[in-house]
Amino acid sequence: MSMEELKSTIKGMVVVGKGILAADESAKTAAKRLASINVESTEETRRQYRNLILTAPGIENYICGVILFEETLSQKTDNGILFPEHLSNIGVVPGIKVDEGLAEFEGSVEQYTKGLDGLGERLEKYKKFGCRFAKWRAVYHITENTPTEMAIKRNAQDLAKYAKICQQHGIVPIVEPEVLIDGTHSIDTCHKVTEKVLNEVFAELKKQDVMLECTILKPSMVISGKEAGNRANVDEVAKRTMKVLKAAVPSQLPSINFLSGGQTPQEATAHLNRMHTLGEHLPWYVSFSYARALQDPALKAWKGKEENFNAGQQAFIKRAKLNSLATMGKYTEDMENQDLDMLIVQ
Ligand code: G3H
Repeated sequence: MSMEELKSTIKGMVVVGKGILAADESAKTAAKRLASINVESTEETRRQYRNLILTAPGIENYICGVILFEETLSQKTDNGILFPEHLSNIGVVPGIKVDEGLAEFEGSVEQYTKGLDGLGERLEKYKKFGCRFAKWRAVYHITENTPTEMAIKRNAQDLAKYAKICQQHGIVPIVEPEVLIDGTHSIDTCHKVTEKVLNEVFAELKKQDVMLECTILKPSMVISGKEAGNRANVDEVAKRTMKVLKAAVPSQLPSINFLSGGQTPQEATAHLNRMHTLGEHLPWYVSFSYARALQDPALKAWKGKEENFNAGQQAFIKRAKLNSLATMGKYTEDMENQDLDMLIVQ
């Protein structure tokens, strides 16, 4: 493993005003997204959709890394260039989702993540396609009795083993512990659970001797459950999230890139923006690694129709730009109603 290699990848992924796009939906999840616009999911429609997003003009101004799904590595843009190569050509770092999805602990709603077996060999294969970073997602369900200590421990151990293997192969690991938004829980409960989960993840990363300065954290925000009554407002989400991160995340970590986790695109942007206007010192770069919150407007504008191709790309770029502004605390709600060309930055 070369430390220089990892450091140079981090340099390309931690860039002021930019964030990471998660475009790593499995074939199953991609089918769900395409079904929402009445498009049948085939290898070709998935390629067309990736092409729309990844070739959107100016994407490189707001996005510095893209997480891809294995199938996309060997697909090509409309101009016949392999997607990872296209991204590298425009200065965007290609990465890859390496976990193999979730499995249930017997007799429980709780889940662990599959994919550690043979991970090293797969990483070598992905490197040949130009991938320089990876992502592994663990999930935590909030119910009356969960997450249990057992699930918190097991997921932290697996995240740390994955991160160690990645670094041994010169790949920067994105560590993604997602406390799910589903449920009626309060922001207080989410706060406690997130802090516990992060403490355990960093304890295991330490045990495995993972180099934090070459690791990126992709957490969920501290937020009320989706079905909770009296949900916390933007200000509280931003403050609570920062409080937990400051308590649990060591300052050597270069970057925290949030997932959107079922927030609307507007909510995800507003929360990130507020974190940057609290006036607090942030020891790490704080940005985004959204999938749905970046892609939903594009999907809706495109609807799978050739004549909407430009509208889809414009919708994607607008969302990417708004999130870029949020990483600098320069986003305002009225920008939602402005055309992309007219976006006025105060
Ligand atoms: O693993 C999940 C994705 O990387 C983030 O997706 O922003 O839609 O939650 P999301």
